[in-house]
Amino acid sequence: MTENTTKSPNFHAFRILAVLLVVMGIAVMEGCTYEVAPPPLPCGDIAGVSFGGDVLPLLDVHCNGCHSGGSPSAGLNLENHASVAQSVLEGSLLERLNLPQTDIRMMPLNGNPLPACDIALFEFWALEGALNN
Ligand code: HEC
Repeated sequence: MTENTTKSPNFHAFRILAVLLVVMGIAVMEGCTYEVAPPPLPCGDIAGVSFGGDVLPLLDVHCNGCHSGGSPSAGLNLENHASVAQSVLEGSLLERLNLPQTDIRMMPLNGNPLPACDIALFEFWALEGALNN
């Protein structure tokens, strides 16, 4: 009996510890699950992509420091719909975006590759016919 009463508080503490470990374990497992399998639709409202609202703002941020004005790099001005659509539909723009960073032809030149969801915007816009929308 005396043995029981001295063990009881320890047992209680052990149970609290066990519950804590299980809760922490679930939290860690959920963290790992999230990393291994991201949510199924990471690229938001990609279906509503437009030239003026999505494509051009990305070009202005990442590309038009070089591909604009009177003498754009490679003679390619990416400020207007016609030349962006031509470059996207012939394939060279998408090809450049999808190159690995180790490739010197990767665009943006000397920069970081665009995030996958930004590249997906270009691809979806091209798939829908590269409209001036
Ligand atoms: C720092 C300047 C710079 C930036 C920023 C830049 N480019 Fe370029 N781009 C160049 C230069 C210089 C060339 C020509 C050399 C080459 O072909 O790699 C080129 C070539 C290209 C070509 C090939 C054109 C052709 O006719 O062969 C495409 C397509 C292109 N860039 C798209 C882009 C896109 C899209 C972005 C933004 C995501 C971008 N570039 C950002 C400098 C830049």
